Amino acid sequence: MKMLTNIILTLLFVLCANPAWSAGGNNHAQDVFGKVKIDMGNKASLQRGAKYFVNYCLSCHPAQHSRYKRVADDLGISEDMTVDNLIFTGQKFADLMTVSMRREDAKKWFLGVNPPDLSTHVRAIGPQAVYEFLKAFYVDDARPFGVNNIRLPNTAMPHVLVGLQGQKKAVFRMDTDRNGREQKKFSEFELMQSGTLDEKEYDQVVTDIVGFLAYLSEPAQLVRKKIGIGVLFFLALLGVIAYFLKLEFWKDVH
Ligand code: HEC
Repeated sequence: MKMLTNIILTLLFVLCANPAWSAGGNNHAQDVFGKVKIDMGNKASLQRGAKYFVNYCLSCHPAQHSRYKRVADDLGISEDMTVDNLIFTGQKFADLMTVSMRREDAKKWFLGVNPPDLSTHVRAIGPQAVYEFLKAFYVDDARPFGVNNIRLPNTAMPHVLVGLQGQKKAVFRMDTDRNGREQKKFSEFELMQSGTLDEKEYDQVVTDIVGFLAYLSEPAQLVRKKIGIGVLFFLALLGVIAYFLKLEFWKDVH
């Protein structure tokens, strides 16, 4: 009995400690950036995400556990389309999605930080964090690349989507924390110069990228969901057959 109580208490603790479950965990960030709406069944969105990823991210971030071929097969993109539109590194269709930049060089160029492998990193930080990160860049002349980020202060990553999103200024206000200390708190963004997309279109681009990265961090989920639906359907059918079988068996007893 004591063991059962311990297990229940541990489970409750784990659930409450998870920011996604605990009340108020990330609410402020979600108020500012909104919640990402990923639909793994939306192949068109995932395909667009793949296109943006190879164009804007793969030059720095590898996805070294994924092969172009696997991505193309999963997302329904033909081999010719993949070679013409997704592979810019001179690699082959069956190759891994690696970066030609040497790791040591990357580290030197990006303030001592290596751009992480996105197939594993996104699995660790979750799609919502990437969504917020890509929407949180603002102009800051004190930084080497001229930008800073609300979600990852003093980040070493340049704002690679600035042409699409445009330049934003971050407005801060002074706030007193629980201990009465004054601190700078983010209030809102102000558009300084618009990019080629409006806010809604930029959100869609970021959603496509994040959706693709969520797929990349766990490619089996596409197949797993399909199998899951099949299994549920099979169980339902089996349930109906079992029910009628039961009626048949008990017919003579009653
Ligand atoms: C010019 C190189 C470069 C490009 C291009 C680039 N990044 Fe980055 N990225 C970096 C570096 C460097 C870091 C490490 C930043 C740090 O830790 O401060 C990083 C970090 C990240 C992180 C981790 C953030 C976190 O909270 O830990 C994510 C997610 C990310 N990049 C996504 C992207 C996406 C998506 C694209 C394409 C739209 C992209 N990056 C394009 C250099 C790049």
